[in-house]
Amino acid sequence: MDRYCVIGNPVEHSRSPWIHARFAALTGQALEYGRRLAPLGGFAATVDSFRAEAAAAGDRAGGCNVTVPFKFDAAAMAQSLSGRARLAQAVNTLRFEPDGRIHGDNTDGVGLVNDIERNAGVPLAGRDLLLIGAGGAAAGVLGPLLDTGLRRLVVANRTVDKAVALVRRHSAQALGHSTALEAWALDAVPGSFDVVVNATASSLAGDAVPVPASVLRPGALAVDMMYGRAAAGFMDWASAHGAVPRDGLGMLVEQAAEAFALWRGVRPPSAQVLAELRTLVDAA
Ligand code: ATR
Repeated sequence: MDRYCVIGNPVEHSRSPWIHARFAALTGQALEYGRRLAPLGGFAATVDSFRAEAAAAGDRAGGCNVTVPFKFDAAAMAQSLSGRARLAQAVNTLRFEPDGRIHGDNTDGVGLVNDIERNAGVPLAGRDLLLIGAGGAAAGVLGPLLDTGLRRLVVANRTVDKAVALVRRHSAQALGHSTALEAWALDAVPGSFDVVVNATASSLAGDAVPVPASVLRPGALAVDMMYGRAAAGFMDWASAHGAVPRDGLGMLVEQAAEAFALWRGVRPPSAQVLAELRTLVDAA
């Protein structure tokens, strides 16, 4: 049996074990996927003990997903990184190679892009997108967003220097796609957008959405990378101003699908699993 897990702190509410169990069942893959709480400062030790326990039981540890606050520790622990993980400087998926080495990838950005383009049905090429936030969540998605061929991508953040640094790191990639990539302060964002993505923790704190509603074009897609109560403030704001709100549940399933494909070489039916998870979450 191959073993996988999600490592985080906190991790008890993670939906990843449920999602991967559905992927495994629907693709006929035999695997086990659990969750591990790592103490702060104890990420690498948790990975090591997960691998050692699997080996002691005669199983193979295939990899793990990594969530808050360990995505930077995971990047540091990996012996090789995908290009998108290197650009994000953060890793959400580790794959344990047969020779014992650890490969790090970041599937958050492609998960967001696939949710917007496939599940929400909004192709991003030639569109204008506003990304609110410049922390780890924003850094994880900027590269894959640029790869879609957007016309304009604005990063807006409370601490504008962080937005500037993120934009600088991605400037060559933006140039390669002829995308206008800009950094602005939250209250100074010029123009309006087809898609607005909230990658800040502002809703979690119960704070108001930190940008003016004028950023929303009529019928714009407004995506919060969180779901449940944490996304409610942003979703209500979007609806009240004529936008189409979308929470982060689809991104969660799509980043998991990409990790599953990386580990197993099989693409799971993510749209079906998203529909099932939506029913489960709505009923909770
Ligand atoms: P994460 O990994 O979730 O991105 P993070 O790296 O701590 O966490 O980043 C949090 C993001 O939310 C940052 O962009 C932060 O803005 P600052 O860089 O100025 O700190 C943003 N954020 C958090 N609370 C906010 C609030 N109340 N209003 C606006 N932005 C907020």
